[in-house]
Amino acid sequence: MTTETDATARFQALVADPRRRLDDYSAMVEQYYALVGDIHRAHRGPSYHMACYRPGQSRLEATAAHERDLADRAGLTADSHALDVCSGVGGPACTIAAHTGARITGVELVPARVAEARDNARARGPADRISFRAGDVVALPFADSVFTAAYTFEALCHVPDKARALCEGARSGAFFVGYRHARRAEEWP
Ligand SMILES: C[S@@+](CC[C@H](N)C(=O)[O-])C[C@H]1O[C@@H](n2cnc3c(N)ncnc32)[C@H](O)[C@@H]1O
Repeated sequence: MTTETDATARFQALVADPRRRLDDYSAMVEQYYALVGDIHRAHRGPSYHMACYRPGQSRLEATAAHERDLADRAGLTADSHALDVCSGVGGPACTIAAHTGARITGVELVPARVAEARDNARARGPADRISFRAGDVVALPFADSVFTAAYTFEALCHVPDKARALCEGARSGAFFVGYRHARRAEEWP
């Protein structure tokens, strides 16, 4: 049986080695989210990104507002089919599909998180417009130009070859929008 202490020690050994952080980035991401998944789930719900809070907003309200803002900036509508790059456990896809009427396909590295995203989409909806697939953003498992847009929330920090990920997003979608952790306050929704 693997204890939490074993898992933590294994993760620490991996991240302590600069070479392995690059060569084994998939294992590093998978191990990291296995360790922090419960905490994230309890405190953030199904969306794993930051948001700027307006006075009186709860965390969930601020997070959803942030997701709707990105969808509006991307011009997503019911005619869109957007790729959610690094879709996590599916929170942003659910909010954006409900807000815009767009079809959303998420791609996510960790299979356990894909399964959790599917459960969340079934529970939150709109399940008929959302799907998730396991895959690495540097080699997307989709043909050229199958999406009208691609977006991401705070995930490319994990990907060593960011240029390749952006090229893959552009290859599969018409344009690419996304958030990093830091933005000027006056630009927030
Ligand atoms: C901070 S979470 C954000 C998840 C989601 N975008 C959200 O906002 O809820 C980063 C996600 O990126 C995924 N990820 C990291 N590297 C990836 C890669 N190379 N390909 C696909 N997904 C990746 C992680 O497994 C994790 O679910």
